[in-house]
This record gives sequence, C-alpha cells and structure tokens, in this order.
Amino acid sequence: MAIHYNRENKTFTLSTKNTSYQMKVDTYGVLIHTYYGESVGDADMSYLIDLRDSGFSGNIYEAGNKRDYSLDTLPQEYSSSGVGDYRITSVSVRNPDGSDAVDLRYDSFEIVPGKYDIPGLPALYGGPEDADTLKITMKDRVTRLCAVLYYSVWEKQDIITRSVRFYNGNEKPVILKKAVSMNLDLMHGQWELMHFHGRHCMERQMERIPVMSGKMEVRSTRASSSHHHNPFAILCAPETTEMAGPCYGVGLVYSGNYSIQVEKDQMNQVRLTAGIAKELFAWQLDPGAEFCTPEAVMTFSGEGLGRLSSNFHHIVREHLCRGKYKHERRPVLINNWEATYFDFNSEKILEIAKGAADLGVEMLVLDDGWFGKRDDDTSGLGDWFVNEKKLPGGLAPLVEQVNALGLKFGLWFEPEAVSEDSDLYRAHPDWAIHIPERRPNRSRYQLILDMSRQDVRDYLYERICAILDSANIEYVKWDMNRNISDVYSTNLPKERQGEVCHRYMLGLYELLEKLETRYPDVLWEGCSGGGGRFDLGMMYYYPQIWCSDDTDALERIRIQYGTSFGYPISTVGSHVSAVPNHQTGRITPLSARGIVAMAGSFGYELDLNLLSEEEKEEVKEQIRSFKKYYNLTHEGEYYRLTNPWENQLYAAWEFVSQDQTEALICGVQMLAQPNSPSQHIPVRGLDPQKQYEINGNGQILSGRALMGGGLNFPRQEGDCMPVEFYLKEKK
Ligand code: GLA
Repeated sequence: MAIHYNRENKTFTLSTKNTSYQMKVDTYGVLIHTYYGESVGDADMSYLIDLRDSGFSGNIYEAGNKRDYSLDTLPQEYSSSGVGDYRITSVSVRNPDGSDAVDLRYDSFEIVPGKYDIPGLPALYGGPEDADTLKITMKDRVTRLCAVLYYSVWEKQDIITRSVRFYNGNEKPVILKKAVSMNLDLMHGQWELMHFHGRHCMERQMERIPVMSGKMEVRSTRASSSHHHNPFAILCAPETTEMAGPCYGVGLVYSGNYSIQVEKDQMNQVRLTAGIAKELFAWQLDPGAEFCTPEAVMTFSGEGLGRLSSNFHHIVREHLCRGKYKHERRPVLINNWEATYFDFNSEKILEIAKGAADLGVEMLVLDDGWFGKRDDDTSGLGDWFVNEKKLPGGLAPLVEQVNALGLKFGLWFEPEAVSEDSDLYRAHPDWAIHIPERRPNRSRYQLILDMSRQDVRDYLYERICAILDSANIEYVKWDMNRNISDVYSTNLPKERQGEVCHRYMLGLYELLEKLETRYPDVLWEGCSGGGGRFDLGMMYYYPQIWCSDDTDALERIRIQYGTSFGYPISTVGSHVSAVPNHQTGRITPLSARGIVAMAGSFGYELDLNLLSEEEKEEVKEQIRSFKKYYNLTHEGEYYRLTNPWENQLYAAWEFVSQDQTEALICGVQMLAQPNSPSQHIPVRGLDPQKQYEINGNGQILSGRALMGGGLNFPRQEGDCMPVEFYLKEKK
C-alpha cells in the first residue's frame, strides 16, 4: 500500500517510487502538512516544524497561552479563512449566520484501493493496480460543514492527485465562496515559479520568476482555461535545470475559471493553491448537498524539470486520455481551413482531398463553413444543418467520395457558440448567455450558449448526432472561439448566479461524455481558437488538442516547448501550413515545418495541389517518416534539449523509445550566423551500455559516449533549417 497511517504519531505518509508526502493530525486536530519531496520512508517529518512566537499571528483558543501555535505560520493541508490564517486560504464560506469563518478539524480517515472519481468532472482513472486512495474527513464542529480531502497515490508514476468533496451537514444553506482543489505549504527553500502565459496565436510562453514576498497569481476568469494563462505551474529551486534539482508540478483537470496562487509569507514559507477561481464563483450548498472540486495533479521531481514533465506525460497518456486513439496511431490529416477559409464547395474540397490522398494523407477534415448560412464568421453558428448550396445532397455524397479516395472524413463543429444571425438565435434568444436588460459583449461577432441548460444540451446532442449519423464521419474538431462574459443564466434563480460558470463546465463535460459514449470510435480533437482550452480537463475527452492557430514553424518551436512541460506530444495538434505563413508572413522551408509538426499529431493545413513536384515528394517523405517514428514520438520519452528563450539560434528536442533501443533527435537552426561556432546539443536518455548507430551511416558510439559528448549540428546556410539524427541500437 502506498498509503500508511501511523497511529502512534498520527501521520499519513503517501509514498511513490521516488517521493514521500506526509501530513499529521496535531494535538488540536489541525491537519498539518509535514513534508513533500524525495522519499523519506515513513519517518515523522514533523520535527521540521519550528514553532515560534510570530509577529501579530494569533493563537487558536485551545492553545491557551501557547503564543507560538498559530495557524498563520503552520504548514497546513487545507487552510481555511476567517480563523487566524491570514495567507491565501483554500476555502472560504458565508455561513447561515452571516459569518465567514471555517474551522476544519480532523474527524476520520479511510484508505481504499483504486482511484476515486469525481461525479460530473473529468479525472485521472485507474484500478487498484494503479492507485490507492486516502480520504480524510475534516469537519467544522460549529457549522457542520464537512470537507473530505481525497488523495490518490500513483506509486509508479510519482503522481498524487487531489480533490475535495464538501458536504453541508447544517440544516441551512451555506455559500461556498472559494473552494480550491489543493494547498501545498513548503516550509523551507527558495522557489521560482514557472508558468505558461500568452495570448491567441501565442500560447504557453514559459516564464520563470522568483517567488516574491506577497502573492502571485495565474488565473482565468474567462470561463475557459484560456490562451492567456495555462492551468499548469511549477515551483522549482533557482538551481533546478532540466536534469537536476527539486521541482513541484501542479496541473488542474479543469477547463473553466481557475486560479493558481503562490504566496511567500512572513517566515519565507511558500504556499501554493490551485482550484476554481474565487471570482464569479459562489456556490449555494443546500442542507445535505455536496460540492466536488476539480482534480489537481501533483508531482515532485528531485531530478529536474525533465523528470517532472515525464511524470506528467506518462500519467496523461495512460490515465487521462481515453478511447480508441489513446494509443492507436492517429491518421495524418489535411484540414481545409487555411486552404479555403469559408470559400469552398464539394468540388474544391474533393480536389484538395485528391491531391492529399496521392501524397499519403489519410484523412480530410472539413473545417468551418459547411452549415447554415456561414460564408464568413458573422452568421450561422448554431444552425447545425448542412449548407446544401456548398455541399449539394448533404455530407453523405461528399464523404463517400472522400472515402473512395482512401481517406477518412472529419468535421468541424463549434457547438457552444451562436451567431445572432442564425435561426437558432432567432428561435431561442434566451439560450445565449446575457444579463437581462444588458447588451452582452460580442466576440468574433458571436455569443455563447448557456451550457448549464438542459434544453441547450439536448438541442446540441440531437443536432450533432443527426450530422454524425448522416455520413461516415470519423473525426470531430470541437472548437470554441470566444470567452464568456456577461455571466448570467436565465434558467437559474438569483441566489445561484455565482454557479453559472462552473455549471457551464459541468454541462459541457456531460454533453461531451454522452457524445463520446455514443461514438467511441470517433477521434475527437479539442480546439479553442487554437490552444485556448489546452488543459488536462479537455484531455479526458480529446486525446489531442489543436495547439495554436499560429502554424509558423519558428513560433511553434516556442509554443510547443512551453506546452511540453505539462503535456505529452501525443496531445499536441500540429500541422504543416503554407508559406508565407498566414499568421506571421514568414517563409520557412517545408522541411522545418515538417520536423516541427512531427512533434505532435501531424497533419497539413494547405492545398497540397499548389506545391511543386519536388515539394510533393518531400511531403510523401514527411508522411513516411511520421509513420515510421510514430511510436517513438508518441509513446517514447520526450526531452527538451535547448531552451528557445535562452538560445535563439537553434532549438533541439529528442524522443527515446521506452526500451532505449532507438532515439530521434530533432533540431532547427533558427537563425543562421556567418562563421558560426560549432552548434552543440546534449543527448539524453540513452542506455549507457548500448551501442547506437547514427543515421544508419555506420558510425557507432555507445550511449555513454553520446550522452557524455552530445552532438554537433551540421553547419547550414539559411534560417529555420532542420536537422535530424536517428540513433538505432546496434547489437
Ligand atoms: C478557430 C480554429 C481554427 C479554425 C477556425 C474556424 O480559429 O482554431 O483552426 O477552425 O476557428 O473558424
């Protein structure tokens, strides 16, 4: 069992292969956090707690005159507000008597084999062979509010997941004003925060900054995890590198409003909390009702950021992504969006499909514009009926012809959105989120449907099924092209308006679950203006997500670098597009676009008929190598070899098969320099004892030599020039 309770000293120790996590019930029933880090067995780590009489920090009543016992300085498992902890707290309420205090004390525990699940919310899944669960019940003895802290321990993966289930034992409703998924208190050390911010077309740009005294926060109140701040963060020591040093990673399995807060307190202790953002949130918990927080996934690595990412990659691939395409190779696709935008008809699509089929592409994806009156982005969303002016006879004849070319067929939807110029909006203006008497914000000309409404979800389910049943559709791209504002639901009473954003997510998750249960063989790809909802919540439903609307190879190097910290390659949708690039105007070689797109679920986003014969041959070769290296890139270990923020000249990354018999090192010389010094990259993850042949050229070196010496990039002329080394074990 990875969970051990020591009755004598009342410690709970969660053990994974390389880490220990510990908490302890103290004399006053406060659940204190004593340790998270390298394995320490089940030693009672509370010897580290250094009680001090601290400036203006109060003492709980039961502590009598013990001036050194203060919730304001003690490391805690799940801190609560209004009772003397002045730091960021995990839970805050409005009690029936109008007071705000929550005083959670230990009540009981239970250890059960297997993974807990969270009703209505996505979460890691696994059986008793994968994880064990600890449930600790905490109670406020005055208000009878209960919080059950759930921990699942994934021994092999060095992962601990957390969620909290609240239960109102009072006879009156209580308002949850804040209820985060996890709280981590670090008593010692200097820490830096790594977070992943950005904007549309520039998601997940890595920033690493020292944790300051006071509070730092990354969050979204857009009712979507957002392009702007990703719900994933790392705390690491200043000396931590890819290969060495301590670091903690936290990711939220949630796609709505969230907040990750970090505070360095008066004692230089650091607290990190992660969960639903408190803005736009107030949940009325009726007597006997429950509320479950989304799940937080945590890992600790004492061996640097590479190991931390690898832990996330494994758990996401194996225990979050689901469905037929969890491991099955995804078809190489061609998407018509950048090739035609809204200007297409069946003939044009068939021409694109034909050209692509000749080169080895395996699926055609028909993007925006096939439904309703949709010739630009001002109208039509919500009218999920085929536009027969563009596609005479509906989808079936087109799909049959596409299938006859040997290609699968995929289709774009944006179910959550509605155009004011649509039959749906004319019939149901109330279905669009807006505050009565106010005009809502438009974004990309559109409004958003209230997914908390059952009637909205029923309409979408009926329409999507009708379309999916009308032809052989084997892939769905589920897009969402705006953020939510003017939050209000005409379906909820006024005292429940603080629940709209979370109910929106619950509604969306419910619809996705229902559709995916009905169409288990469809490949679902997530999208939100590119990577605006690239989060662990969505990965439970979609094994891949369109990583960014920015398809420029150079830009993608940085976007995919940032993405790789928390998310595996298999989840990254990445395409080769035309040049000049539609987002930046930059011209990059086809070879570089190919190598960058291959670090993801690969496809094309241009009309391949417009390429020269030579380029077409190159596309054929790219597809061959994507297939050849699929297992390596999608199931292997991924290593970041350079940091494109520090090294602006060249970037490199590596894939190593799990059995270490082969490796692929990919690089791009981003900027050429005259008379440049040797460009040198490290090599990682090989078996030191094995011998490897480089690029099949007869040159053989041991894993030890290659990892010790690294490799030199060949000198090349020109910007954005790719390099590839394939290493194969030679017996
Ligand atoms: C979003 C997506 C694009 C494309 C367009 C269509 O921006 O990210 O890939 O599907 O919508 O409108």
